[in-house]
Amino acid sequence: MRRINAAITGVQGYVPDYILTNKELETLVDTNDEWITSRTGVKERRILKEEGKGSSNLGAKAIKGLLSKTNINAEDIDLIICATATPDMIFPATACIIADKVGAKNAFAYDLMAACSGFLFALATASKFIETGTYKKVIVVGTDKMSSIVDYTDRSTCIIFGDGAGAVLLEPNNDGLGIQDSILKSDGSGREFLHMKAGGSAKPASYKTIDAREHFVFQDGQPVFKAAVKNMSDVSEEIMQRNNLAADDVAWLVPHQANKRIIDATARRMGVGDEKVMLNIQKYGNTTNGTIPLCLWEWENQLKKGDNIILAAFGGGFTWGSIYLKWAYDSKK
Ligand SMILES: CC(C)(COP(=O)(O)OP(=O)(O)OC[C@H]1O[C@@H](n2cnc3c(N)ncnc32)[C@H](O)[C@@H]1OP(=O)(O)O)[C@@H](O)C(=O)NCCC(=O)NCCS
Repeated sequence: MRRINAAITGVQGYVPDYILTNKELETLVDTNDEWITSRTGVKERRILKEEGKGSSNLGAKAIKGLLSKTNINAEDIDLIICATATPDMIFPATACIIADKVGAKNAFAYDLMAACSGFLFALATASKFIETGTYKKVIVVGTDKMSSIVDYTDRSTCIIFGDGAGAVLLEPNNDGLGIQDSILKSDGSGREFLHMKAGGSAKPASYKTIDAREHFVFQDGQPVFKAAVKNMSDVSEEIMQRNNLAADDVAWLVPHQANKRIIDATARRMGVGDEKVMLNIQKYGNTTNGTIPLCLWEWENQLKKGDNIILAAFGGGFTWGSIYLKWAYDSKK
């Protein structure tokens, strides 16, 4: 019997309507379009403005779209894994809220937290449930309302992030397509450079933490940038080497969208040309767990059955990794 692979058989993204441009950011902090564009590649990002709505609203929209385009009944879903750094609440899991919103009554659901690498880690985790024959229909959703934890008085972080979500359906494949290999890494000593200081069990919310603005993303940009360039490039190169892939064999690189310069460095190390790199950072910024599925969604119509695709991510933790997959279907235009 042939090995069961976990293959992506559908993808859908969702971004909120409100567009926060670099021009508007110029009215909030001391910055300018030229600086933001040349240092990060971001031109605009989407923001979920409606009060009371959180990451689950974005994730549920992506999954509803996914179910409708793949003609799958919500009740047929076995499992939903939600990768998010901005859960609606600390508990219950945002995945449970999403499952309820989309009517996935028979699914069990849980969150996976690995900052910007969360979607990649969740995809690798989900694939094991398929490869072992345990489940047949698993959804991985990456969703973040980063605007809920971004300090719009801090010019070095507020320019990067945006809100968005993307979801993929994973099903068994017996033809050798789907996920082939993954490399997943973490190094908790990197936490000093990228974290949220308060609101967790070590430092619960208090008047003091609010006054000190400790409920926002704290990022020391340069060390994070250096670690991202090195580690994302290393794992992308390693996964190519151990699967005997030359640059010509790679159809697409799907990088986490944190900074265009990090993406360029990774592609250079892999020897992959710009035309093979999915890039939408200019439109959405860094949507954390949303970036990779949003790229796959936007490029879906160009993907062909059998395409060799490398996913790569780096994020808080530090966490990083790469996945090599063979795309399992031709686009349905
Ligand atoms: C955040 C980031 C864009 C900053 O870019 P950078 O080139 O490292 O910039 P620096 O922090 O060295 O700052 C350079 C100068 O620009 C200034 N600056 C920072 N943000 C600015 C902004 N929005 N507009 C104008 N100037 C800005 C700094 O104050 C500094 O000024 P100084 O030299 O007078 O002190 C970059 O470090 C980065 O992308 N880091 C990694 C992000 C990432 O991958 N995150 C992890 C995944 S989520």
